[in-house]
Amino acid sequence: MVSQARKTTVVILGASGDLTQRKLGPALFHLMNSGSLPDLCSFVGVSRSKFSDEAFRSTLRESVDAVSDSDWAGFAERASYFQGSSTNALSLKLLDQQISEACGDDFADDRVYYLALKPSLYPDTLLALAESGSLNESLGSRRVVIEKPFGTDFESARKLNELAHSMMNEDQIYRIDHYLGKDTVQNILVFRFANAIFEPLWNRNYIDHVQISVLEDLGVENRGTYYDDSGVLRDMMQNHLMQLLALIAMEPPASSTADALRDEKAKVLSAVRRVDDDYATANSVRAQYDGYVSETGVDPDSSTATYGAVKLFVDTWRWQDVPFVLRSGKALSRKSSEISIEFKRPPQSIFGVSGDVMPNRLTISIQPDEGVHLQFVNKTPGAGTELAAETLEFHFPVGVIRDAYERLLLDAILGDATHFNRSDEIEYSWRIIDPFINAWLDGGTPKMLGYEPGSFGPMEAEGLLGEGREWI
Ligand code: BG6
Repeated sequence: MVSQARKTTVVILGASGDLTQRKLGPALFHLMNSGSLPDLCSFVGVSRSKFSDEAFRSTLRESVDAVSDSDWAGFAERASYFQGSSTNALSLKLLDQQISEACGDDFADDRVYYLALKPSLYPDTLLALAESGSLNESLGSRRVVIEKPFGTDFESARKLNELAHSMMNEDQIYRIDHYLGKDTVQNILVFRFANAIFEPLWNRNYIDHVQISVLEDLGVENRGTYYDDSGVLRDMMQNHLMQLLALIAMEPPASSTADALRDEKAKVLSAVRRVDDDYATANSVRAQYDGYVSETGVDPDSSTATYGAVKLFVDTWRWQDVPFVLRSGKALSRKSSEISIEFKRPPQSIFGVSGDVMPNRLTISIQPDEGVHLQFVNKTPGAGTELAAETLEFHFPVGVIRDAYERLLLDAILGDATHFNRSDEIEYSWRIIDPFINAWLDGGTPKMLGYEPGSFGPMEAEGLLGEGREWI
């Protein structure tokens, strides 16, 4: 019989890696420090490296900015280390017993297993978790958080889902996309569905096209080996940009439950037009920044794209014929993630201005300038009728935006899957991106372009938008 009081153990598999150091350690610390975690919540780092508990805590402390000794002591006493392999069932069985003993019989023994591992280790780790009995929910909940990339194409993602479903229920699986943990991304839902004035315009009758841009100023840094196998389509487009598209294009869900929301996202992703290689060639731009092949870990003959732009259509009554143009790239002039919704121009210009009147544009800025901008046309004061585009702006106050990992880790601990991907969303997203991956294979089409680091990327990407449109 499961008692009322619950103890939660967060098990980080791959704890000696970069993700624990950069994101998970600091996120857990801040959650504890802000009083957000359940009282009886502890963490176990697992990896093959030899560490004492003390040495593991010291590496975690290095990852957290200025922290007082007393705050740190409160966190450190909850953290321990277990040396073992995530793909070895015996090792995980030992860990399982150790956690059960520490939990005792008076509490429900809830666990979150976080796979902070190389994606190639996911299948064997899932198998070892199942074989060791660690996923058995008789004594408490067992959730598994799986990092992106989830598969490398539709078929591999389908197989990984199949494997995961053979040992767990869907509600035990938390596929993470850290964009879904960003406040500004979650705000898309609130902006759309807690305001009545935009939704009537949110369709093909009023919207000319949608631009989704996730641009980065940094190159591949120290992740050359991983990135060279992935490229922009797998690293950014299939996950973060697809989720942004889904949030912008989905129908209003009937409620805010995880499944109501994910049903609508899956529905709209399933409606993105399936394309063939010819379409992919004619409607995408790929490029590599100059000097990429000299980065550490990158193949000197690499044909991996570090910049990509694609044009998609959503075949629904709401969106028929409205282009969704997505672009992402590394080593560009600035870091900026935003979605711009460009409205149709007035049917007639009565003010005698030559050329087109500027269109209204709604820009949802994910980062770094977190907020919303609405561009509209005004009269310039003075004689005559000069028109000028002005902007109404809202910005979140500086410092209030939390790290996405904090939010998502807490959600996984509390069992809220709303901001995690369901299996069908992942598979639909790969089905959208696979034709572009195939067309771009070595020696494929369109031609690989180059661009200067620190530039705006290849000019050819403008052409994707179509006549009279430009990137914001
Ligand atoms: C990750 C990609 O998923 O997202 C990285 O693997 C990329 O290549 C990062 O740099 C961007 O995230 P953010 O939150 O900085 O926009």
